[in-house]
Amino acid sequence: MVSMKLLQQLAKKHGTPLLVVDHDEIRRNYATFRKYLPRVQAYFAVKALSEPAVVQTLFQAGASFDVASMPEFRIVHEFIRDMPAKERQDWIWDKIIYAHPIKADATLRELNPYKPLVTYDNHEEIRKIAKHAPQAGLVLRLKVLNTGAMVELSSKFGAAPGEAVDLILEADRAGLVVEGLSFHVGSQTTNFDNFVQAINLAANVFEEARARGYTKMNLLDIGGGFPAPYDKSVKPFRELARKINAELDRLFPPEIQILAEPGRFMVATAATAVSTIIGMAVRDGKLCYYIDDGVYHTFSGILFDHCTYHFGAFRKGRTEICTVFGPTCDALDVVSMSENLPANLERGDLLYSRNIGAYSIASSTCFNGFPPAKVVHVNQK
Ligand SMILES: Cc1ncc(COP(=O)(O)O)c(C=O)c1O
Repeated sequence: MVSMKLLQQLAKKHGTPLLVVDHDEIRRNYATFRKYLPRVQAYFAVKALSEPAVVQTLFQAGASFDVASMPEFRIVHEFIRDMPAKERQDWIWDKIIYAHPIKADATLRELNPYKPLVTYDNHEEIRKIAKHAPQAGLVLRLKVLNTGAMVELSSKFGAAPGEAVDLILEADRAGLVVEGLSFHVGSQTTNFDNFVQAINLAANVFEEARARGYTKMNLLDIGGGFPAPYDKSVKPFRELARKINAELDRLFPPEIQILAEPGRFMVATAATAVSTIIGMAVRDGKLCYYIDDGVYHTFSGILFDHCTYHFGAFRKGRTEICTVFGPTCDALDVVSMSENLPANLERGDLLYSRNIGAYSIASSTCFNGFPPAKVVHVNQK
């Protein structure tokens, strides 16, 4: 964990708002993932923290990558630019999945020469891929239960189990190769049974596909959703891993390759936001601090990720429940209505917020003309 002293030094050097990303913690998270899920290749979901430096650290650690847009694809592709063409080709297959079930025609055309692995979940997408990216390998995304996830995704994506094999056979008839199945149990899933049920459902679809004559599937992608330890209610990762391993070993023979797309798990605990108090007021008897970062910026996860963050102060003092507002003119820019902070903080004092690496700076805007926080990387190799 980056010490408070270092946070203060970095804030002094770079100013605020600041996001400090600790690469030792990213490497630790990746190692934990690999240790407890040894059969699963981690494709880091770049969208969670799309900093090239983060991709580089995970690349060096041995990770593969889940991208969902061409800019994300290019961040990862940058690392292999100089490889010979043949190696580059293999690398893309092993290292990148384009895991967005709905892709624009132009995106497919741009992807096609790379012979990518792409997800799909509907008839229209098969027609599009057959026309614009016939060299792609396909992964059918299944709709699975997202119950108890902080962010549900199943209303937007995923083929119903009953239509899954029809969609596989239709892609086959269109001349495409379906390599396997994927699902996403919802982000920050603390209900571990979602994974168990989804793996069982995928096994049923594999079985039905085989029974109906389709035998080319060789991979299962168990998606993202691995929870970050934001608080003590999140059970240890090894418990989730134990359940996943048991189901994978029971239902999928060793020759089936297992992938996952962890985003939050790799980076949530790796970043700390540091902001400055720029104003203070007492409204309806409650102390309000105004800081130079907010929900349009590093704290965007409050809106887009249904996440809550907590603050710490560098100055000690008697605490009371305060409101923390962001810097923009919008009344929506409320970072917290109930933070227990020292009441004696002054303009210019710093606040910090830990565990804010996932879906934070990645969805920051420039609303009201305020630029995103500066990102500083520590413990890079
Ligand atoms: C297709 C896909 N894969 C992976 C992820 C990463 O999920 P998480 O950060 O919950 O691990 C997401 C997040 O939205 C996603 O949409």
